[in-house]
Amino acid sequence: MKEVLVVYYSQTGQLRRILEQITQTLAGESVQITWLEIRPETPFPFPWDKKSFFGVFPETFLQKTIPMAPIAPSVFEKEYDLVLLGYQVWYLTPSLPITSFLTSEAAARLLRDTPVITINGSRNMWTQAQEKLKTSLTHLQARWVGNIVLVDRHINHISVITIVHWMFGGKKTKKWGIFPKPGVSEDDIKNASRFGPVIRNALLQDSYDNLQTKLVQMGAVKVKPFLVLADQRANILFGKWAHLIAKKGPPGSPKRDKWLVFFNYYLLFAIWGIAPVVFIVFLISYIPRYRSIKNQKRYYASVSTKHI
Ligand SMILES: Cc1cc2nc3c(=O)[nH]c(=O)nc-3n(C[C@H](O)[C@H](O)[C@H](O)COP(=O)(O)O)c2cc1C
Repeated sequence: MKEVLVVYYSQTGQLRRILEQITQTLAGESVQITWLEIRPETPFPFPWDKKSFFGVFPETFLQKTIPMAPIAPSVFEKEYDLVLLGYQVWYLTPSLPITSFLTSEAAARLLRDTPVITINGSRNMWTQAQEKLKTSLTHLQARWVGNIVLVDRHINHISVITIVHWMFGGKKTKKWGIFPKPGVSEDDIKNASRFGPVIRNALLQDSYDNLQTKLVQMGAVKVKPFLVLADQRANILFGKWAHLIAKKGPPGSPKRDKWLVFFNYYLLFAIWGIAPVVFIVFLISYIPRYRSIKNQKRYYASVSTKHI
């Protein structure tokens, strides 16, 4: 019997549904699934209010930890052959609950020397968060053997408008009845079931060498070079903002809250003012950077830990 542990955090349930689709075709004869939903001690609000949404920015980006609810002792009673780690990106970084889990004693016990397949369900800007997650997996001495990334496929600015509607309204519906639905599409969620049999084969044969190549051929990861560039640039600026705001005081302090309002305005400016400029720079430099863009696409779609 092969034992699979599915670890995840999901506020809206989107990621849980993706994982359910994958495990539906992975489970069965000789494969047993154990679910571990990680939960913060104090849940984050959903729908979000503005103050809480921006309030988590410094700690998320700086990869601080928060207290997490205890994990049922029964989870530790088995040895796992494979871990599916479901995570989402917050502020270009793995979400605060995921970072908190990955730095915990529990993660060290569950992930060490164990093959891990990451399953990411985010808006669309995930590559640098993946780099950070990779560092955590390396620290934990986990074996990163597969990666699936499901995102909102609409153009960047449309997905910004629709995710705001979802996060602050609480419903994954069409804004004003005219915008597309936010997040990962229903079709992409349902079709995630196609990854299960491939993972199952690798698990039963205990051979993950070609797994990621197969998953990529099936469309498990699509890298958009413009979003990689935007993500890299934004990480530099987010780093400055996060350090600056964190220095203004602990969460909830009035001085820090004032700076979080400035950050809110900056974010609007970055999305609507800076991102279009970065896009023009991207287009102009596309031909001279063609080779490096191709390498980048290959790298972020792979489970390689070294830049090529
Ligand atoms: C505070 C916050 C920040 C987010 N930042 C990003 C981001 O930087 N990049 C991205 O692709 N998605 C971002 N998202 C969207 C999430 O990755 C995810 O798609 C959404 O929260 C639903 O996930 P869940 O229901 O599985 O928790 C953010 C969401 C939240 C709540």
